[in-house]
Amino acid sequence: MAGMAPEGSQFDARQYDAKMNELISQDGQDFFASYDEVFDSFDAMGLQENLLRGIYAYGFEKPSAIQQRGIVPFCKGLDVIQQAQSGTGKTATFCAGILQQLDYGLVQCQALVLAPTRELAQQIEKVMRALGDYLGVKVHACVGGTSVREDQRILSSGVHVVVGTPGRVFDMLRRQSLRPDYIKMFVLDEADEMLSRGFKDQIYDIFQLLPSKIQVGLFSATMPPEALEITHKFMNKPVRILVKRDELTLEGIKQFYVNVEKEEWKLETLCDLYETLAITQSVIFVNTRRKVDWLTDKMRSRDHTVSATHGDMDQNTRDIIMREFRSGSSRVLITTDLLARGIDVQQVSLVINFDLPTQPENYLHRIGRSGRFGRKGVAINFVTRDDERMLFDIQRFYNVVIEELPSNVADLI
Ligand SMILES: Nc1ncnc2c1ncn2[C@@H]1O[C@H](COP(=O)(O)OP(=O)(O)OP(=O)(O)O)[C@@H](O)[C@H]1O
Ligand SMILES: [Mg+2]
Repeated sequence: MAGMAPEGSQFDARQYDAKMNELISQDGQDFFASYDEVFDSFDAMGLQENLLRGIYAYGFEKPSAIQQRGIVPFCKGLDVIQQAQSGTGKTATFCAGILQQLDYGLVQCQALVLAPTRELAQQIEKVMRALGDYLGVKVHACVGGTSVREDQRILSSGVHVVVGTPGRVFDMLRRQSLRPDYIKMFVLDEADEMLSRGFKDQIYDIFQLLPSKIQVGLFSATMPPEALEITHKFMNKPVRILVKRDELTLEGIKQFYVNVEKEEWKLETLCDLYETLAITQSVIFVNTRRKVDWLTDKMRSRDHTVSATHGDMDQNTRDIIMREFRSGSSRVLITTDLLARGIDVQQVSLVINFDLPTQPENYLHRIGRSGRFGRKGVAINFVTRDDERMLFDIQRFYNVVIEELPSNVADLI
Protein backbone atom coordinates (compact mmCIF):
# COMPACT_ATOMS: atom_id res chain seq x y z
CA MET A 1 0.00 0.00 0.00
CA ALA A 2 1.29 3.46 -0.86
CA GLY A 3 2.32 5.60 2.05
CA MET A 4 3.06 2.79 4.46
CA ALA A 5 6.34 2.74 6.30
CA PRO A 6 8.60 0.15 4.74
CA GLU A 7 8.21 -3.35 6.06
CA GLY A 8 10.47 -4.06 9.00
CA SER A 9 11.30 -0.38 9.53
CA GLN A 10 11.07 1.20 12.96
CA PHE A 11 7.73 2.66 12.00
CA ASP A 12 6.20 -0.48 10.57
CA ALA A 13 2.81 -0.14 12.23
CA ARG A 14 1.48 -3.44 11.03
CA GLN A 15 4.38 -5.37 12.45
CA TYR A 16 4.16 -3.46 15.73
CA ASP A 17 0.46 -4.17 16.12
CA ALA A 18 0.79 -7.79 15.13
CA LYS A 19 3.54 -8.42 17.63
CA MET A 20 1.68 -6.51 20.31
CA ASN A 21 -1.50 -8.45 19.80
CA GLU A 22 0.38 -11.69 19.90
CA LEU A 23 2.04 -10.77 23.21
CA ILE A 24 -1.18 -9.62 24.76
CA SER A 25 -3.23 -12.59 23.70
CA GLN A 26 -0.63 -15.11 24.88
CA ASP A 27 -2.01 -15.16 28.37
CA GLY A 28 -5.51 -14.19 27.49
CA GLN A 29 -5.46 -10.74 28.99
CA ASP A 30 -7.28 -7.82 27.48
CA PHE A 31 -5.34 -5.34 25.37
CA PHE A 32 -6.16 -2.44 27.63
CA ALA A 33 -6.51 -2.70 31.35
CA SER A 34 -6.80 -6.00 33.02
CA TYR A 35 -7.57 -4.24 36.26
CA ASP A 36 -10.70 -2.22 35.77
CA GLU A 37 -11.29 -0.69 39.15
CA VAL A 38 -11.22 3.09 38.90
CA PHE A 39 -10.95 5.35 41.93
CA ASP A 40 -11.92 8.89 41.18
CA SER A 41 -10.52 10.34 44.39
CA PHE A 42 -7.35 9.75 46.39
CA ASP A 43 -9.55 9.35 49.48
CA ALA A 44 -11.24 6.30 48.01
CA MET A 45 -7.98 4.39 47.50
CA GLY A 46 -7.55 3.28 51.08
CA LEU A 47 -4.23 5.07 51.50
CA GLN A 48 -2.66 5.90 54.83
CA GLU A 49 -3.72 9.18 56.35
CA ASN A 50 -0.19 10.58 56.28
CA LEU A 51 0.28 9.65 52.66
CA LEU A 52 -2.96 11.41 51.77
CA ARG A 53 -1.75 14.47 53.65
CA GLY A 54 1.43 14.40 51.62
CA ILE A 55 -0.45 14.09 48.34
CA TYR A 56 -2.77 16.99 49.14
CA ALA A 57 0.00 19.14 50.56
CA TYR A 58 1.87 18.62 47.28
CA GLY A 59 -1.08 20.27 45.57
CA PHE A 60 -2.84 17.31 44.00
CA GLU A 61 -6.61 17.37 44.33
CA LYS A 62 -7.88 14.72 41.96
CA PRO A 63 -6.04 11.66 40.65
CA SER A 64 -5.20 11.51 36.95
CA ALA A 65 -6.41 8.63 34.78
CA ILE A 66 -3.32 6.51 35.45
CA GLN A 67 -3.42 7.29 39.15
CA GLN A 68 -7.10 6.33 39.30
CA ARG A 69 -6.28 2.93 37.86
CA GLY A 70 -2.68 2.32 38.78
CA ILE A 71 -2.13 3.18 42.44
CA VAL A 72 -4.39 0.57 44.00
CA PRO A 73 -3.06 -2.53 42.18
CA PHE A 74 0.47 -1.39 43.00
CA CYS A 75 -0.51 -1.00 46.66
CA LYS A 76 -1.81 -4.55 46.64
CA GLY A 77 1.69 -5.78 45.95
CA LEU A 78 0.96 -6.91 42.40
CA ASP A 79 3.45 -6.72 39.57
CA VAL A 80 2.37 -3.94 37.23
CA ILE A 81 3.15 -2.61 33.77
CA GLN A 82 1.70 0.85 33.53
CA GLN A 83 1.74 2.94 30.43
CA ALA A 84 0.24 6.41 30.21
CA GLN A 85 0.86 9.47 28.06
CA SER A 86 3.71 11.80 28.98
CA GLY A 87 3.05 14.23 31.77
CA THR A 88 0.01 12.44 33.18
CA GLY A 89 1.38 11.56 36.59
CA LYS A 90 3.13 8.19 36.48
CA THR A 91 5.70 9.31 39.04
CA ALA A 92 3.16 9.87 41.79
CA THR A 93 1.54 6.57 40.84
CA PHE A 94 4.56 4.50 41.77
CA CYS A 95 5.66 6.81 44.58
CA ALA A 96 2.27 6.42 46.26
CA GLY A 97 2.38 2.67 45.70
CA ILE A 98 5.78 2.44 47.35
CA LEU A 99 5.08 4.87 50.18
CA GLN A 100 1.90 3.03 51.09
CA GLN A 101 3.71 -0.27 51.48
CA LEU A 102 6.88 0.69 53.35
CA ASP A 103 7.43 -0.43 56.92
CA TYR A 104 8.52 2.83 58.53
CA GLY A 105 9.65 1.07 61.67
CA LEU A 106 12.37 -0.63 59.67
CA VAL A 107 15.07 1.73 58.47
CA GLN A 108 16.29 -0.50 55.66
CA CYS A 109 16.04 -0.08 51.92
CA GLN A 110 12.73 -1.64 50.94
CA ALA A 111 12.21 -0.12 47.52
CA LEU A 112 14.56 0.46 44.63
CA VAL A 113 13.60 2.75 41.76
CA LEU A 114 15.83 2.95 38.68
CA ALA A 115 15.79 5.62 36.00
CA PRO A 116 17.93 6.09 32.89
CA THR A 117 19.45 9.47 33.75
CA ARG A 118 20.81 11.17 36.85
CA GLU A 119 18.58 14.17 36.31
CA LEU A 120 15.49 12.01 36.27
CA ALA A 121 16.52 9.95 39.30
CA GLN A 122 17.10 13.14 41.27
CA GLN A 123 13.71 14.48 40.20
CA ILE A 124 11.91 11.30 41.27
CA GLU A 125 13.69 11.37 44.61
CA LYS A 126 12.30 14.84 45.28
CA VAL A 127 8.76 13.77 44.44
CA MET A 128 9.05 10.68 46.65
CA ARG A 129 10.37 12.77 49.51
CA ALA A 130 7.65 15.38 49.16
CA LEU A 131 4.77 12.92 48.95
CA GLY A 132 6.19 10.96 51.88
CA ASP A 133 6.94 14.00 53.99
CA TYR A 134 4.35 13.24 56.69
CA LEU A 135 5.35 9.59 56.76
CA GLY A 136 8.93 10.47 57.61
CA VAL A 137 10.27 8.60 54.60
CA LYS A 138 14.01 8.51 54.06
CA VAL A 139 14.90 8.58 50.39
CA HIS A 140 18.29 8.77 48.74
CA ALA A 141 19.24 9.49 45.14
CA CYS A 142 22.08 7.18 44.20
CA VAL A 143 23.55 8.49 40.95
CA GLY A 144 26.86 8.60 39.16
CA GLY A 145 29.06 11.66 39.13
CA THR A 146 28.64 12.21 42.87
CA SER A 147 30.84 11.23 45.79
CA VAL A 148 30.90 7.48 46.40
CA ARG A 149 31.90 8.08 50.01
CA GLU A 150 28.95 10.36 50.60
CA ASP A 151 26.59 7.76 49.09
CA GLN A 152 28.03 5.12 51.37
CA ARG A 153 27.67 7.36 54.38
CA ILE A 154 24.01 8.10 53.67
CA LEU A 155 23.17 4.49 52.90
CA SER A 156 24.79 3.28 56.08
CA SER A 157 22.85 5.82 58.09
CA GLY A 158 19.67 4.11 56.85
CA VAL A 159 17.11 4.82 54.13
CA HIS A 160 13.75 3.36 53.13
CA VAL A 161 13.95 4.03 49.41
CA VAL A 162 16.78 4.37 46.90
CA VAL A 163 16.17 6.09 43.57
CA GLY A 164 19.12 5.78 41.28
CA THR A 165 20.82 5.14 37.99
CA PRO A 166 21.94 1.59 37.22
CA GLY A 167 25.71 2.12 37.33
CA ARG A 168 25.95 3.65 40.78
CA VAL A 169 23.26 1.42 42.25
CA PHE A 170 25.06 -1.69 41.04
CA ASP A 171 28.29 -0.32 42.48
CA MET A 172 26.64 0.24 45.87
CA LEU A 173 25.17 -3.25 45.85
CA ARG A 174 28.49 -4.79 44.87
CA ARG A 175 30.30 -3.00 47.68
CA GLN A 176 27.50 -4.06 50.01
CA SER A 177 26.92 -0.45 50.92
CA LEU A 178 23.38 -1.02 49.73
CA ARG A 179 21.91 -4.12 51.34
CA PRO A 180 19.36 -5.90 49.19
CA ASP A 181 17.90 -8.13 51.93
CA TYR A 182 14.81 -6.04 52.69
CA ILE A 183 14.12 -4.75 49.18
CA LYS A 184 10.59 -5.85 48.30
CA MET A 185 9.71 -3.39 45.53
CA PHE A 186 11.61 -2.77 42.31
CA VAL A 187 10.48 -0.06 39.89
CA LEU A 188 11.84 0.79 36.48
CA ASP A 189 10.80 4.22 35.31
CA GLU A 190 11.12 4.69 31.55
CA ALA A 191 10.99 0.92 31.56
CA ASP A 192 11.20 0.39 27.81
CA GLU A 193 14.43 2.39 27.78
CA MET A 194 15.74 0.46 30.77
CA LEU A 195 15.02 -2.81 29.00
CA SER A 196 16.55 -1.71 25.72
CA ARG A 197 19.97 -2.61 24.47
CA GLY A 198 21.93 0.05 26.32
CA PHE A 199 20.67 -0.84 29.79
CA LYS A 200 19.27 -4.36 29.73
CA ASP A 201 22.37 -6.16 30.97
CA GLN A 202 22.93 -3.70 33.79
CA ILE A 203 19.33 -4.09 34.92
CA TYR A 204 19.67 -7.84 34.78
CA ASP A 205 22.85 -7.70 36.90
CA ILE A 206 21.06 -5.66 39.54
CA PHE A 207 17.97 -7.83 39.46
CA GLN A 208 20.12 -10.89 40.14
CA LEU A 209 21.30 -9.38 43.40
CA LEU A 210 17.79 -8.67 44.68
CA PRO A 211 15.64 -11.08 46.71
CA SER A 212 13.78 -13.51 44.50
CA LYS A 213 10.37 -12.61 45.85
CA ILE A 214 10.04 -9.02 44.78
CA GLN A 215 7.28 -6.83 43.42
CA VAL A 216 8.16 -5.35 40.03
CA GLY A 217 6.64 -2.20 38.55
CA LEU A 218 7.33 -0.90 35.06
CA PHE A 219 6.34 2.59 33.97
CA SER A 220 6.66 4.49 30.72
CA ALA A 221 4.76 6.52 28.17
CA THR A 222 5.92 4.06 25.53
CA MET A 223 5.95 0.29 25.72
CA PRO A 224 6.91 -1.20 22.37
CA PRO A 225 6.55 -4.95 21.87
CA GLU A 226 10.29 -5.57 22.18
CA ALA A 227 10.16 -4.24 25.75
CA LEU A 228 6.92 -5.97 26.63
CA GLU A 229 8.30 -9.25 25.39
CA ILE A 230 11.14 -9.25 27.92
CA THR A 231 8.79 -8.67 30.84
CA HIS A 232 7.66 -12.30 30.68
CA LYS A 233 11.10 -13.26 31.92
CA PHE A 234 11.02 -11.49 35.24
CA MET A 235 7.47 -10.56 36.05
CA ASN A 236 4.71 -12.54 37.62
CA LYS A 237 1.26 -12.12 36.01
CA PRO A 238 1.58 -8.37 35.79
CA VAL A 239 -1.47 -6.15 35.83
CA ARG A 240 -1.15 -4.24 32.59
CA ILE A 241 -2.41 -0.84 31.66
CA LEU A 242 -1.38 -0.24 28.07
CA VAL A 243 -2.10 2.45 25.51
CA LYS A 244 -2.31 1.83 21.78
CA ARG A 245 0.36 3.46 19.66
CA ASP A 246 -2.16 5.67 17.88
CA GLU A 247 -3.56 7.04 21.13
CA LEU A 248 -0.30 8.12 22.65
CA THR A 249 -0.08 11.74 21.65
CA LEU A 250 -1.64 14.46 23.72
CA GLU A 251 -4.37 16.73 22.38
CA GLY A 252 -2.76 19.70 24.08
CA ILE A 253 0.52 19.51 22.18
CA LYS A 254 0.30 21.10 18.75
CA GLN A 255 2.88 19.77 16.35
CA PHE A 256 4.44 21.59 13.42
CA TYR A 257 7.25 21.27 10.95
CA VAL A 258 9.47 23.76 9.18
CA ASN A 259 10.96 22.79 5.87
CA VAL A 260 14.55 23.84 6.25
CA GLU A 261 15.58 21.97 3.13
CA LYS A 262 19.22 21.68 4.13
CA GLU A 263 21.00 21.09 7.39
CA GLU A 264 22.89 24.39 6.93
CA TRP A 265 19.67 26.36 7.14
CA LYS A 266 18.55 25.08 10.50
CA LEU A 267 20.59 27.62 12.45
CA GLU A 268 19.06 30.58 10.64
CA THR A 269 15.59 29.14 11.21
CA LEU A 270 16.25 28.74 14.91
CA CYS A 271 17.49 32.31 15.19
CA ASP A 272 14.31 33.53 13.51
CA LEU A 273 12.35 31.69 16.17
CA TYR A 274 14.41 32.89 19.10
CA GLU A 275 12.03 35.61 20.24
CA THR A 276 9.25 33.05 20.39
CA LEU A 277 11.47 30.61 22.28
CA ALA A 278 12.29 33.08 24.96
CA ILE A 279 8.71 34.19 25.65
CA THR A 280 8.17 30.86 27.28
CA GLN A 281 10.56 28.14 28.36
CA SER A 282 11.76 25.81 25.67
CA VAL A 283 13.94 22.80 25.07
CA ILE A 284 15.89 22.31 21.85
CA PHE A 285 16.90 18.76 21.00
CA VAL A 286 19.85 17.80 18.82
CA ASN A 287 21.24 14.34 18.28
CA THR A 288 24.81 14.53 19.58
CA ARG A 289 26.71 16.07 22.44
CA ARG A 290 29.09 17.78 20.06
CA LYS A 291 26.21 19.37 18.26
CA VAL A 292 24.89 20.75 21.56
CA ASP A 293 28.24 22.51 22.04
CA TRP A 294 28.32 23.70 18.45
CA LEU A 295 24.79 25.08 18.48
CA THR A 296 25.28 26.72 21.86
CA ASP A 297 28.36 28.54 20.55
CA LYS A 298 26.57 29.64 17.42
CA MET A 299 23.57 30.98 19.31
CA ARG A 300 25.73 32.82 21.82
CA SER A 301 27.87 34.35 19.12
CA ARG A 302 24.64 35.84 17.80
CA ASP A 303 23.83 37.26 21.23
CA HIS A 304 21.08 34.80 22.01
CA THR A 305 21.00 33.64 25.60
CA VAL A 306 20.88 29.87 25.83
CA SER A 307 21.96 27.22 28.28
CA ALA A 308 23.06 23.72 27.45
CA THR A 309 23.55 20.33 29.00
CA HIS A 310 24.64 16.87 27.92
CA GLY A 311 26.18 13.70 29.24
CA ASP A 312 29.78 14.71 28.68
CA MET A 313 29.58 17.61 31.09
CA ASP A 314 30.57 17.14 34.71
CA GLN A 315 27.73 16.41 37.09
CA ASN A 316 28.15 19.59 39.06
CA THR A 317 27.62 21.67 35.93
CA ARG A 318 24.71 19.50 34.86
CA ASP A 319 23.08 20.03 38.26
CA ILE A 320 23.53 23.79 38.09
CA ILE A 321 22.10 23.99 34.56
CA MET A 322 19.05 21.95 35.61
CA ARG A 323 18.51 24.07 38.69
CA GLU A 324 18.61 27.26 36.65
CA PHE A 325 16.23 25.87 34.09
CA ARG A 326 13.80 24.54 36.68
CA SER A 327 13.77 27.89 38.48
CA GLY A 328 13.10 29.72 35.20
CA SER A 329 16.25 31.80 35.44
CA SER A 330 17.34 30.20 32.17
CA ARG A 331 14.68 29.86 29.52
CA VAL A 332 16.12 28.15 26.46
CA LEU A 333 17.91 24.85 26.96
CA ILE A 334 19.81 22.97 24.28
CA THR A 335 20.33 19.28 24.93
CA THR A 336 20.40 15.70 23.65
CA ASP A 337 18.07 12.82 24.42
CA LEU A 338 19.56 13.04 27.91
CA LEU A 339 16.52 15.14 28.76
CA ALA A 340 14.08 13.47 26.37
CA ARG A 341 12.45 11.33 29.01
CA GLY A 342 10.69 12.04 32.25
CA ILE A 343 12.01 15.51 32.98
CA ASP A 344 9.22 17.62 34.37
CA VAL A 345 9.44 21.38 34.09
CA GLN A 346 5.87 22.59 34.02
CA GLN A 347 6.70 25.92 32.42
CA VAL A 348 8.11 24.36 29.26
CA SER A 349 5.63 24.99 26.49
CA LEU A 350 7.82 24.70 23.42
CA VAL A 351 10.01 21.87 22.18
CA ILE A 352 12.15 22.12 19.08
CA ASN A 353 13.48 19.09 17.31
CA PHE A 354 16.45 20.75 15.66
CA ASP A 355 17.23 17.19 14.62
CA LEU A 356 14.51 14.57 14.39
CA PRO A 357 15.08 11.81 16.94
CA THR A 358 16.68 8.61 15.73
CA GLN A 359 14.48 6.42 17.91
CA PRO A 360 10.71 6.61 17.22
CA GLU A 361 9.66 6.46 20.87
CA ASN A 362 11.78 9.45 21.69
CA TYR A 363 9.67 11.60 19.42
CA LEU A 364 6.83 11.25 21.91
CA HIS A 365 9.07 11.62 24.94
CA ARG A 366 10.73 14.75 23.58
CA ILE A 367 7.55 16.58 22.66
CA GLY A 368 6.11 15.48 25.99
CA ARG A 369 8.54 17.80 27.81
CA SER A 370 5.93 20.43 27.00
CA GLY A 371 2.23 20.20 27.73
CA ARG A 372 2.68 18.73 31.21
CA PHE A 373 -0.47 17.60 32.98
CA GLY A 374 -2.94 19.04 30.52
CA ARG A 375 -1.06 22.26 29.80
CA LYS A 376 -0.71 23.56 26.28
CA GLY A 377 2.40 22.76 24.33
CA VAL A 378 3.93 23.29 20.92
CA ALA A 379 6.45 21.09 19.15
CA ILE A 380 8.35 22.28 16.08
CA ASN A 381 10.28 19.86 13.91
CA PHE A 382 13.05 21.03 11.60
CA VAL A 383 12.85 18.91 8.50
CA THR A 384 15.46 18.59 5.79
CA ARG A 385 14.79 16.77 2.53
CA ASP A 386 16.29 13.66 4.03
CA ASP A 387 13.91 13.84 6.98
CA GLU A 388 10.68 14.04 5.03
CA ARG A 389 10.16 10.33 5.06
CA MET A 390 10.57 10.08 8.79
CA LEU A 391 8.20 12.94 9.43
CA PHE A 392 5.64 11.13 7.35
CA ASP A 393 6.23 7.88 9.21
CA ILE A 394 5.89 9.56 12.58
CA GLN A 395 2.50 10.93 11.59
CA ARG A 396 1.25 7.58 10.44
CA PHE A 397 2.63 5.65 13.33
CA TYR A 398 1.29 7.89 16.07
CA ASN A 399 -1.81 8.99 14.21
CA VAL A 400 -1.04 12.69 14.35
CA VAL A 401 -1.09 15.54 11.90
CA ILE A 402 2.03 17.66 11.83
CA GLU A 403 1.25 20.89 10.03
CA GLU A 404 3.49 23.48 8.50
CA LEU A 405 4.45 26.10 11.05
CA PRO A 406 2.09 29.08 10.87
CA SER A 407 3.47 32.61 11.25
CA ASN A 408 1.47 33.26 14.40
CA VAL A 409 3.05 30.45 16.40
CA ALA A 410 3.66 32.78 19.34
CA ASP A 411 -0.10 33.03 19.82
CA LEU A 412 -0.35 29.30 20.38
CA ILE A 413 2.00 29.15 23.33
N1 LIG B 1 -3.14 14.32 40.41
C1 LIG B 1 -2.42 15.36 40.01
N2 LIG B 1 -2.89 16.61 40.13
C2 LIG B 1 -2.16 17.68 39.71
N3 LIG B 1 -0.94 17.59 39.14
C3 LIG B 1 -0.42 16.36 39.01
C4 LIG B 1 -1.12 15.20 39.43
N4 LIG B 1 -0.36 14.12 39.15
C5 LIG B 1 0.77 14.60 38.59
N5 LIG B 1 0.75 15.94 38.51
C6 LIG B 1 1.80 16.79 37.94
O1 LIG B 1 1.91 16.48 36.57
C7 LIG B 1 3.23 16.64 36.12
C8 LIG B 1 3.68 15.41 35.33
O2 LIG B 1 3.78 14.29 36.18
P1 LIG B 1 4.87 13.15 35.93
O3 LIG B 1 6.22 13.75 35.79
O4 LIG B 1 4.67 12.13 36.96
O5 LIG B 1 4.39 12.61 34.50
P2 LIG B 1 4.80 11.25 33.79
O6 LIG B 1 3.54 10.54 33.50
O7 LIG B 1 5.83 10.56 34.55
O8 LIG B 1 5.37 11.81 32.40
P3 LIG B 1 6.64 11.32 31.52
O9 LIG B 1 6.14 10.22 30.63
O10 LIG B 1 7.02 12.53 30.74
O11 LIG B 1 7.69 10.86 32.46
C9 LIG B 1 4.08 16.88 37.35
O12 LIG B 1 4.38 18.26 37.42
C10 LIG B 1 3.18 16.47 38.49
O13 LIG B 1 3.44 17.18 39.67
MG1 LIG C 1 7.75 10.05 34.25
